Amino acid sequence: MGETARVLRVGKGVAAIAGFSELRAGELVAFPGGLHGMATDLDGREAGVVLLGPSDEIREGAAVRRTGRVADTPVGPALLGRVVDPLGRPLDDLGRIDAAARRPVDRPAPPIMHRAPVSVPLQTGIKAIDATIPIGRGQRELILGDRQTGKTSVALDTILNQKDTGVVSVYCAIGQRAASVVRVIATLRDAGALKRTVVVVAGGEDAPGLQYLAPYAATAMAEAFMEHGTDVLIVYDDLTRHARAYRELSLLLRRPPGREAYPGDIFHIHARLLERATRLRPEHGGGSLTALPVIETQAQNISAYIPTNLISITDGQVFLSPALFARGQLPAVDIGRSVSRVGGKAQHPAYRAVAGDLRLAYAQFEELETFARFGTQLDAETRRTLERGRRVRAILRQPERDHLSVAEQIAVLLATTEGLLDEVALERCAEAERAIRQRVRRDPDGLAARLATEAPLARADREALLDGLRDALASAGLVDRAGGDHGHP
Ligand SMILES: Nc1ncnc2c1ncn2[C@@H]1O[C@H](COP(=O)(O)OP(=O)(O)O)[C@@H](O)[C@H]1O
Ligand SMILES: [Mg+2]
Repeated sequence: MGETARVLRVGKGVAAIAGFSELRAGELVAFPGGLHGMATDLDGREAGVVLLGPSDEIREGAAVRRTGRVADTPVGPALLGRVVDPLGRPLDDLGRIDAAARRPVDRPAPPIMHRAPVSVPLQTGIKAIDATIPIGRGQRELILGDRQTGKTSVALDTILNQKDTGVVSVYCAIGQRAASVVRVIATLRDAGALKRTVVVVAGGEDAPGLQYLAPYAATAMAEAFMEHGTDVLIVYDDLTRHARAYRELSLLLRRPPGREAYPGDIFHIHARLLERATRLRPEHGGGSLTALPVIETQAQNISAYIPTNLISITDGQVFLSPALFARGQLPAVDIGRSVSRVGGKAQHPAYRAVAGDLRLAYAQFEELETFARFGTQLDAETRRTLERGRRVRAILRQPERDHLSVAEQIAVLLATTEGLLDEVALERCAEAERAIRQRVRRDPDGLAARLATEAPLARADREALLDGLRDALASAGLVDRAGGDHGHP
């Protein structure tokens, strides 16, 4: 490998080189000053190289060396609590990383025979999602919405909710402003979650090659945990910017542009990435990799090229609505437009019983509400449905960083769907929720502990729980002692 080549042309992000007799696709080449590039477009003697850093120092005619290596990254527990670039170089000030091993960033997805069905829930701690769009470990669930609709917030809350679950997280920031990334890191640190998270950053100012590589590198780091039996959560924030970086590289490399000027293989590069999310059979490590890719839509257009692709690649989507956001219905999850195609099988059984009808009932309520706006005369039954729906909506509101345990969620949802809140004034529903959660946390009758187990909710337990919750609401002065069933004294 003693040969050298020369730089023919250099642009922002890519270079053309010539002179090597043989060069493998994906091989790293080294420029003077230590900058690396990834050989991609091999065409006879000439090769297109994606630069993995700033190109300012490279001149035409400069000498280039082969390395015989492909792009790789350190992996292992030493990365936890660290902020690194896609090549695993520290971006924090915690010194060098003593990683046990390195892995290529681009690896084939586990074969089908190694994969186990999704059957364990990944709790987000967010009622609207856990109840109506449950996510399972090993699933790929897209988070999509316009800018400033709470996408990052949902992803972050999901990471923070893994505090006591043993799930390790990888947060991969792609193309974001530095200030946004700093905020995310501060949130993770303040919540004590950074120590079980790896943060991989390729910022908007970084070379497009690094932004392109970031999610693959982050996935390689996540896979190493998964193969040791750990459940891992990975967030790609976001793949819209990833697609843009790839488009920029492709245009610079003069590949033919296709729809929306994206190169023809843009679908393939995202599919190849997300195929790596899975749950492994015990004999193949037994861990899982749950992927939450984020994409940003423009004016809610989900039929644009990148959203369409990613919707078809993933197992469902959490759709965040700017209209709900503007109305203060936070998190702004549009339940009607969101779906989880595999998570239902993983949902907690006690949950399924209470949350099962919620989705449908809520959709019917929204329809009815629109209809009721026309000032139509409403019968008592319809008025009750509307009042119930409004309470469901109130209960689905949730501030950021305020996670509910499984038991708390089941109690709150059960109280709502069983009509315990019907007598509570709408503006006091948040208070009612607090009273219910307090009761569950105190757990005077040991019921909450049973709620959190794998067993479905037994009938007697359900009645006892409801009695306890009625009592809690009455003690808080939110309903009459007699309870909602018996009307007013
Ligand atoms: N459930 C929520 N309650 C209150 N504020 C929220 C909630 N979700 C998001 N926000 C706020 O909305 C803003 C936008 O959220 P962010 O997650 O950054 O949006 P996006 O990633 O979609 O651009 C942030 O200031 C965030 O704190
Ligand atoms: Mg964001």
